[in-house]
Amino acid sequence: MTRKEERFDLTGKVALVVGGGGYLGVPTCRGLAEHGAHVVVADVRKEMAEKASIQLAAEGLSIEAMGLDIGDEGAVKAAIDDIVSRHGHLDIAVNSTARSTGKPMDEMALVDWEKGLRISLSGAFVLSREAGRVMVSQGSGSIIQFSSMYGKVSPDPRIYAPNFNVNPVDYGAAKAGILQMVRYQAVMLGPKGVRVNAVVPGPFPNPVGQGGDAEFVKKLSDKVPMARVGDAEEIVGAVVFLASDAASFITGTEIVVDGGWTAW
Ligand SMILES: NC(=O)c1ccc[n+]([C@@H]2O[C@H](COP(=O)([O-])OP(=O)(O)OC[C@H]3O[C@@H](n4cnc5c(N)ncnc54)[C@H](O)[C@@H]3O)[C@@H](O)[C@H]2O)c1
Repeated sequence: MTRKEERFDLTGKVALVVGGGGYLGVPTCRGLAEHGAHVVVADVRKEMAEKASIQLAAEGLSIEAMGLDIGDEGAVKAAIDDIVSRHGHLDIAVNSTARSTGKPMDEMALVDWEKGLRISLSGAFVLSREAGRVMVSQGSGSIIQFSSMYGKVSPDPRIYAPNFNVNPVDYGAAKAGILQMVRYQAVMLGPKGVRVNAVVPGPFPNPVGQGGDAEFVKKLSDKVPMARVGDAEEIVGAVVFLASDAASFITGTEIVVDGGWTAW
């Protein structure tokens, strides 16, 4: 293998991708595995993790599936302990989960707000803490949290009205919280060899959902300097880079993959 190839090589690494059965999760798992990692695809929708695992194994990749609710502190700890007991180490932990209360702000009860944060922010915290615990004991590791453009800027209500509930306030607050959490954890874990970063996706509408609505996709595209939405495949480079030795001096920061959405 050339030095050029070695920089991005993940051979021998074990990766956990929570939310790995989702729209951006599946290409993320594929990308990590294509670069040599053994990938544990974990998802609260166990059937989606299994579907992804069957599909990626058929492509010759090293994959296993796991049902996991990132909002269940004990389950996250047990899952990581299980991975380490079976594989000996955990080198890459990715959180690609998302939860939305689906309510506009004036209809959102405190309990809705708290439910959203429980998954999107507290879940992210628990995964980082537990993966970080293992990685500190190893002296190495890379934690990658999915934030969002809506952790940096507000949704433009004109795009979503009247169906504004797809981007509720708890979602953006959690995604902004992730960006600060990443900086904090990077500072604490940096001396111990563990890197913590975020990827910040812009508009990647899933064709099965909103991405199937041509008018909506046009509205999104009109707000992107690159004049289009992202293809799910386009998130992979940032994740693989942050997971790999190519990013060995990069921690406490974010890679924005948004076609320029947050640039103007
Ligand atoms: N797609 C986009 O346009 C976009 C934009 C900005 C940010 N993001 C972020 O990127 C990440 C991936 O987004 P996506 O488009 O693939 O979404 P998705 O909904 O397709 O995938 C999210 C996955 O997380 C899983 N999940 C939800 N709650 C969970 C829980 N409690 N425990 C474990 N798994 C759980 C879901 O089952 C799903 O498979 C998310 O963090 C999302 O907020 C996506």
